[in-house]
Amino acid sequence: MDKMNDLYDETAAYLASRIVGNPKTAIILGSGLGSLADQIEEATVIPYKEIPNFMSSTATGHKGNLICGKLGGKLVLAMQGRFHYYEGYTMQQVTFPVRVMKLLGIENLLVSNAAGGINNTFKVGDLMIIRDHINMMPNPLIGPNNEQFGTRFPDMTRAYDREFIGYMEEIATLHNIPLKKGVYVGLTGPSYETPSEYACYGKVGGDAIGMSTVPEVIVARHAGIRVFGMSVITNEGYHFADDFVNDGTDVIKAADRAASVMTVLFKELVARI
Ligand code: 6GU
Repeated sequence: MDKMNDLYDETAAYLASRIVGNPKTAIILGSGLGSLADQIEEATVIPYKEIPNFMSSTATGHKGNLICGKLGGKLVLAMQGRFHYYEGYTMQQVTFPVRVMKLLGIENLLVSNAAGGINNTFKVGDLMIIRDHINMMPNPLIGPNNEQFGTRFPDMTRAYDREFIGYMEEIATLHNIPLKKGVYVGLTGPSYETPSEYACYGKVGGDAIGMSTVPEVIVARHAGIRVFGMSVITNEGYHFADDFVNDGTDVIKAADRAASVMTVLFKELVARI
C-alpha cells in the first residue's frame, strides 16, 4: 500500500514538473476518439513511455500520450489512450492514472468509449450519455482500502454526475445533436459477446456494452472526483443476421466518425464546468 502511494506521488510530482498551471478537469479519450486531443491548444504532449510508473498503451486506436493544454478556454489534462484489463494489466495499473490525477488536483473526469449497442433503438454512430453502469469486471478497489483516497465502501448511487448530464443535454439541444442516454455494461473482454450474452445484458438493464471505463469511474468516485461519461455506439449487438460479425476495425472506424461531434460536445462541457 505504502509502496503504491510512493508510486502515485512520484508520477504526480513528475507530471507537476512538466505541466503548466492546475487543470481541474481530466478527459480519458477512448477508441478512435483520440483526435479530440488535436483540439487542445498550447498543448504539452507527454508520451506515456516518458512518465515514470506509467504503462504504455497497446490497444488499437489508442495512442499513448498525456496532453495538457486548453480546451474550451479551460486547462485540461487529457489521456489519449487508456489501459484495459484485457491487455493484461492489473486493475491497479488500469486505474493508476486516475489516482495520479487526484493528486494533481483534478476534480472532474470526463470519459469516452466505444461501445456495442444492446438497446435495439440504438444505431451505429449514436452517442449515449452514460447515466449509470453495471460492473461485470473485478472491482478495482478490492484489497486493503487506500484511506488517502477514499472510504472502504464508496457510494455509487450517482456515479455519473447529474449536473454534468444536465449540462450535456442542454449543449446537445443547443447544437441540435441527438443524444441517447443509457446504462453502460463493463466487461473484461477481449472477446465480444455471444448473441445470448447480448440478450442477457439487455434483460438486466444494459443499453450499451464495452470493455473499459467502469474501473476508472469506480476509482474516481472513490476519490470524490465528479464523473461524466459518453459512449459512441460502434456496433449493433442486438440483431443476429446469419452473416453478422463483430469486428474490431469496424469499431474503430465508427468511433472515428463520431469524433468531431464528440469534440464539440466535450469542448462545451469543459467550458461550463
Ligand atoms: Cl459489441 N462489445 C464489447 N464488449 N465492447 C465493445 C463493443 C462490443 N463494441 C465496442 N466495444
